[in-house]
Amino acid sequence: MWSGRFREPLDAEFERWQRSFPFDWRLLPQELAASTAHAKMIAAAGILSADELATIERGLAAIAAKADSLGDAWLRSNEVAEDIHHFVELTLTEEIGPLALKLHTGRSRNEQIATDMRLFVRGQIDAITAALKNWLTALIEQAESAGDAVMPSYTHLQRAEPVLVAHWLLAYVEMLLRDADRLADCRKRLNLCPLGSGAVAGATLALDRTIAAKALDFDGPTYNSMDATSDRDFAVEFTQTLAQLGLHISRFAEELTLYSTAEFGFLDLPERFATGSSAMPQKKNPDLTELIRGKSGRLLGASNSLMMLIKGLPLAYNKDLQEGQEPAFDAADTMRGMLAVLPGFTRALRFRYEQMFAASQLGFLNAMAAATYLVHKGVAFRKAHEKVGNAVRYALEKGCELGDLPLEELKQFGDEFAEDFFPAVTLQATLDCHDVIGGTATARVKTALATAKERVALISTAGGTYALA
Ligand code: ARG
Repeated sequence: MWSGRFREPLDAEFERWQRSFPFDWRLLPQELAASTAHAKMIAAAGILSADELATIERGLAAIAAKADSLGDAWLRSNEVAEDIHHFVELTLTEEIGPLALKLHTGRSRNEQIATDMRLFVRGQIDAITAALKNWLTALIEQAESAGDAVMPSYTHLQRAEPVLVAHWLLAYVEMLLRDADRLADCRKRLNLCPLGSGAVAGATLALDRTIAAKALDFDGPTYNSMDATSDRDFAVEFTQTLAQLGLHISRFAEELTLYSTAEFGFLDLPERFATGSSAMPQKKNPDLTELIRGKSGRLLGASNSLMMLIKGLPLAYNKDLQEGQEPAFDAADTMRGMLAVLPGFTRALRFRYEQMFAASQLGFLNAMAAATYLVHKGVAFRKAHEKVGNAVRYALEKGCELGDLPLEELKQFGDEFAEDFFPAVTLQATLDCHDVIGGTATARVKTALATAKERVALISTAGGTYALA
């Protein structure tokens, strides 16, 4: 690719080592699309005749067809290509002869790789968004089928207040909706076309850059050639978003891992998604959720790698940037893998609602509701807290719950306790006193579920946000 300037051949070891083809071969579809767009652009500038353009387009299409029929093995077996750009040039030359060399007029590999990577990330965002929508739909289905089922909520991993199971599941729906929004946001920002930026300073031919941008479905050309050839924010943002999504998934995975233990007993792991132990015959292990927890760390690693790569890197293109491809590929593959199993796993989950219900009834989960009862009787919350605290201590010693204490005994902690205390601290009343937007009162959760469903339905792979107007 640069034989004119050099008299000595490259050191063989160095030459092999510096290649990116062993991993960037997977950018073939992007490279072919970008090359076709570039060909159209230089044809419009008079560099290629209509016939030459048609021949180049045919040649590029033939490479795509060959890749389709021969598969990845054909690409991977190539021992010559330095990178995907070189590969296409070599193969196009085999297809159409020396005309292939004209394609590289007015362009640089620096803008090509920047374009290929943007196209790659954009495609992955669309695929991941679609998969995420599928998983969100599965979570909503579980929330719907949970109906009025109740579970304890936890703070500090100690039982706190009862909530609807649907409310808990909808908490994850919120996190994931924000992640879908982040993906759309990242897509919006990356959707500009670097082609025509040249090696660093802009193409040396008077190219109409809007032609290539349009051909590749970008919103327009990038604004600055130095930035366009060296920017990898889009990959950083993409991997950071996947890392964030991974963090959310890891919390879900950890909760399910805990809930499936004998100690919690809230969940019977679906056998199709669990594994046994080769040593202990009784075991049913939550490998899926554990592996997911582990993979979320790997996603963080990818985003850290990219950030380390960019830190302090002078403008514009530097070969270091070649190292940014693998973390982006790995993060995309890892996330698509996770999202391939999560919807089926989520749909197969069977919660033990009776156990969750039983756990919600024990451990003074209605103490906040009891204090609120006193507040309605005119007691300051601080005082109410203290009175109920005393009652809790007393009940603990007696070995019963607040609602089991006779009224006469309750009265020693406050004159305000009356007969209407008991209906105010039932499980249902405890739930329904959280009657605010975003609260767990039964009617509120019903509304929240309907709204979440609408917001999930609004997710499109063409960008946009998911807040209802
Ligand atoms: N394989 C290279 C990369 O991925 C393509 C760009 C090479 N540009 C250069 N000036 N050496 O970064």
